[in-house]
Amino acid sequence: MIVEVFPNTNALSRAVAERFVASARVALAERDAFYVALGGGKTPRKAYELLASDPYRGQIDWRKVHVFFGDERNVPTTDPESNEGMAREAFLDSVPIPSANIHGMYNGERAEEAAAAYERILKSFFAPTGYTFDLAHLGVGPDGHTASLFPRAGTLQETRWVAPAETEMLAVRERITLTPAVLCRSRGIVFEVAGADKANIIRQIIDAKADYPAGVVARCVENSVWMLDEAAAALTAATR
Ligand code: 6PG
Repeated sequence: MIVEVFPNTNALSRAVAERFVASARVALAERDAFYVALGGGKTPRKAYELLASDPYRGQIDWRKVHVFFGDERNVPTTDPESNEGMAREAFLDSVPIPSANIHGMYNGERAEEAAAAYERILKSFFAPTGYTFDLAHLGVGPDGHTASLFPRAGTLQETRWVAPAETEMLAVRERITLTPAVLCRSRGIVFEVAGADKANIIRQIIDAKADYPAGVVARCVENSVWMLDEAAAALTAATR
């Protein structure tokens, strides 16, 4: 587990965009394709906007990129809560990626059907064993969730690759989420975390190795990288 700290969110976002490009170049050179699972929430937006701008935009052969999502609410992509909508607005609609290569999670079905359909899509790209995503770009909530894998939820033990999120205990919209069954076979995972409200959970996950979902996922792959701004890294000793 690597921990990188950046002075502010602009530096963090640039570093995330650079790591995205570097991961893509390796995958394209080695396998002529780049399979990436995008994070949701607010944090990734700046890095995604950079990917649609120079110099990053021209550094990737977008025709060979396939974009998936870590989780999604059952809302139209025009809804402000849509992770796909955020990614499209930030960069996907501004780079020459074939529309068929953008694999949205919901098409109006209920969570169970959407999860089963998405798992079929993933399994049409990834073999039953071996690696899945070249890069999974995830965030962390103040409660230690990642994607829509919430603390004390059964989804952490799911054998399905995609499952309805357990949101009963939370006042949040119906969602589906990638599970560790598919995330833990990624070649690399980047957790992009910013803000003082994440400092305590970062300390618990990185220093105390607490078993929050983000920590479970971070520790299940060799190449997991925590990319933090100074505010989120304020309480962890890992970078001192
Ligand atoms: C989502 C994300 C979720 C997010 C964290 C952090 O759909 O909301 O998958 O896991 O990464 O909640 O969100 P912020 O970046 O907005 O703090």
